[in-house]
Amino acid sequence: NGSAGKATKSRNILEKMDETGKNCVVFYGSQTGTAEDYASRLAKEGSSRFGLKTMTADLEDYDYENLDTFPEDKVAMFVLATYGEGEPTDNAVEFYEFISSEDVSFSEGASAEDKPLSNLKYVTFGLGNNTYEHYNSMVRNVAKFLDRLGATRIGDAGEGDDGAGTMEEDFLAWKEPMWKALTESMGLEEREAVYEPVFEVTEREDMDAESDEVYLGEPNKNHLEGKQKGPFNAHNPYIAPIAESKELFTVKDRNCLHMEIDISGSNLSYTTGDHIAVWPTNAGKEVDRFLNILGLKEKRHTVIAIKGLDATAKLPFPSPTTYDAAVRYHMEICAPVSRQFVSQLAAFSPNDNIKAEMAKIGSDKDYFQDEVYSKNYNIAQLLEFLSQGQKWEKIPFSLFMEGLHKIQPRYYSISSSSLVQKDKISITAVVESIEIPGAPNVVKGVTTNYLLALKQKQHGDPHPDPHGLDYAITGPRNKYDGIHVPVHVRHSNFKLPSDPSKPIIMVGPGTGVAPFRGFVQERAEQAKNGENVGKTMLFFGCRKKAEDFIYEKEWEQYKQDMGDAFFIDVAFSREGAKKVYVQHRMKDFAKEINELLEQKAYFYVCGDAANMAREVNTVLAQIISEQRGVPESKGEEIVKAMRANNSYQEDVWS
Ligand code: 2AM
Repeated sequence: NGSAGKATKSRNILEKMDETGKNCVVFYGSQTGTAEDYASRLAKEGSSRFGLKTMTADLEDYDYENLDTFPEDKVAMFVLATYGEGEPTDNAVEFYEFISSEDVSFSEGASAEDKPLSNLKYVTFGLGNNTYEHYNSMVRNVAKFLDRLGATRIGDAGEGDDGAGTMEEDFLAWKEPMWKALTESMGLEEREAVYEPVFEVTEREDMDAESDEVYLGEPNKNHLEGKQKGPFNAHNPYIAPIAESKELFTVKDRNCLHMEIDISGSNLSYTTGDHIAVWPTNAGKEVDRFLNILGLKEKRHTVIAIKGLDATAKLPFPSPTTYDAAVRYHMEICAPVSRQFVSQLAAFSPNDNIKAEMAKIGSDKDYFQDEVYSKNYNIAQLLEFLSQGQKWEKIPFSLFMEGLHKIQPRYYSISSSSLVQKDKISITAVVESIEIPGAPNVVKGVTTNYLLALKQKQHGDPHPDPHGLDYAITGPRNKYDGIHVPVHVRHSNFKLPSDPSKPIIMVGPGTGVAPFRGFVQERAEQAKNGENVGKTMLFFGCRKKAEDFIYEKEWEQYKQDMGDAFFIDVAFSREGAKKVYVQHRMKDFAKEINELLEQKAYFYVCGDAANMAREVNTVLAQIISEQRGVPESKGEEIVKAMRANNSYQEDVWS
């Protein structure tokens, strides 16, 4: 809402489209930014290939009562991610409530039976993950509701599957026939695509990078001015001190970190089971590589001012800034390369041979798979490999701003209890370095390696940065000094029963144990306070007792605090000849598990979604069926019913 001196932002999408002369709006429902990226790509392609006047729109920025006046000669696209258990993303909640409502009514008073959206042409693409039960349910439901209201879909309903790792190819395969259908329906003509920048990047030789007006990683104006100001959230992280950091274990290239983030005085709050978002910084080595291959290394501290060339263009980072700061803090330069992006870059190759190779990679799916995807190149590694030392100086910087993702915060399950330490959030994370056979570079997790570098810096390790990560300290006014980390809290539904006397069963191998350390910490505290604490049963799994059995001593302490109420069983997967996993150990305690479930125990799973969580679900159904003497299908049904009434909860990732 506007206040005096600020322009009021219209929430009327049709007004906005008229004002800016648009005939195509690409709405996005995005949680982590991927759907937003796909929306931008569709908008760009629509404009450069077909001359559509496109804009993207965050679903939460508009109202929908006047969709019934959407004219026939325009089109609305919906790029919608499905979140969690089939829910809309946070920014799509209101839109979804509106469109799905039984008694939805529009500006002109029409109700659903009147088919009020009969003039609306729409296009849909969904982002989902088939390892979850409600695969792409958001986009499917929205399409169903739009159809019910009389709208007409153009082209097929697109669905991308992150679970199978085919999101990008699903998108590419879907969009060509969609464009064909759309051009026919709107009478458009395809033209030779020319790059039309969305942003203008101006080098400001007259400005000094050290000046107070230049952003050097600060997320917004308050931070730039040296005052952190709440509320802190996904748009405004809190740059928090790291109170403590240590390694829970270190074996060869595998490190497990434990960090305590101090949120006192920030007004941030959390409850046990929530997630903490960490805003990473790219590794110095990769920032150097990127700037170097583009011929920008010498100019890295040159100040650049960014301007949107279109009234609806949203700047991906604040301006003015420097090349270095933009790349280091805002651009996802370490992500896998997108095939479409390669074909966009081809035109700016250093010579014709490289251009032909780029075009081939961009257009041949299998060739791309073998030469790029399977080698896990990031964009700068690919450009380096292809040009053999030649610089790519012709690529406009704006193209990277449009084609690469904005850096997104990464979410970690909080491993502390808010009852025990309300002002300190614990993180438990394994530092990732993945070696892929045949790939030239080890793939390093951006955020976990950033956290490791922070730990090393905080401890003044004599040989810091074994991973070649050196993080720039960008001036005294900002707090990226190695012992602060930008964070915010995301509330989750993964919660202990409010009554501590209720029994709980937790299954969390590896760092999947993180939230359960919080759960047990909380119940141990309650027990110490004399409360009646119910059975608290934990199945943990790791490779070897002497290697990665994290929090081993703490579990002993909790046993002393809680007595028989706490029970932990550990599956060691690499101690014997055969793998032993948490789900195998559950079978050995089938009787106890079933008895607890009959006493209305809550059941929790945290960790890997693709295999572990599925197998745990299956084994639990088997246990129920065997113990109660009912068919397996009945066991499955009982687990389903537990999910439906929230007594089976998952916090899983893939
Ligand atoms: P592994 O790596 O020896 O196969 C934490 O990562 C623990 O989870 C490890 O002991 C790992 O065993 C184990 N793990 C791997 N796959 C699993 C699965 N499908 N179900 C349960 N545990 C698994």
